[in-house]
Amino acid sequence: MGKSATHVRFAIVGDIHVNKDSAGSLRGFFAQAGEAADALLLCGDLTDYGTAEEAKILAEELAGVSVPVVAVLGNHDFESGTPEVVCEVLTHAGVRVLDGSACEIEGVGIAGAKGFCGGFGRGSLGAWGEPIIKQFVQEALNEAMKLESALAKLRTPRRIALLHYAPITGTVAGEPVEIFPFLGSSRLEEPLLRYPVDAVFHGHAHRGALEGKTINGVPVYNVARPLLLRSRPEQPPFLLFELPREPGEPHA
Ligand SMILES: [Fe+2]
Ligand SMILES: [Fe+2]
Repeated sequence: MGKSATHVRFAIVGDIHVNKDSAGSLRGFFAQAGEAADALLLCGDLTDYGTAEEAKILAEELAGVSVPVVAVLGNHDFESGTPEVVCEVLTHAGVRVLDGSACEIEGVGIAGAKGFCGGFGRGSLGAWGEPIIKQFVQEALNEAMKLESALAKLRTPRRIALLHYAPITGTVAGEPVEIFPFLGSSRLEEPLLRYPVDAVFHGHAHRGALEGKTINGVPVYNVARPLLLRSRPEQPPFLLFELPREPGEPHA
């Protein structure tokens, strides 16, 4: 599938986990993704340890991509305690890093936030008891609020949401059930019910399932690279997703 006059195409992948040995290994992959789509979307865990060195390697690997690149960070990008450095290096390289913010690509609105964990449905951790538990739950609420404010900014008829953590259990199915609460949070699903989108993309659950749906029927895709490699070994490890172009929207 190449570029299309009738549809806007996105190549989407998460959990690239660039490390100090990745230099030179991802250029071909990114070039292929850029050629197949109008934009490349990255769903967090861009780096392995969140170091400036890893972020610079990723920026160099992305240098040959001629289409816009939009990303959210993942938990690994926080490991060294300097996510702002990862963000700065990538922003300097032209990547739009979304953190409770939104952008527009060829008439399609994209809302992005990292998200957080805490569990799903009736099993969600509640803000009760020790201050540290309340703080943990507050972080999940903050990230849900970021997603909501990003979604509220979108004015386009076509909209997608980018996350690192999962908003539903459907796309973490396949992981050990004991770790579900660390893979995402239903609190991220709530803004998606108030501000429906055409699709949601996330990563983080490397052994999860490719496709699920929110309770209002919005498709959710887990695009973690290890999952794409394992579940579709015959295809390159990015997901191609397309939406019809709005009438009058120029084909760039
Ligand atoms: Fe990951
Ligand atoms: Fe992760």
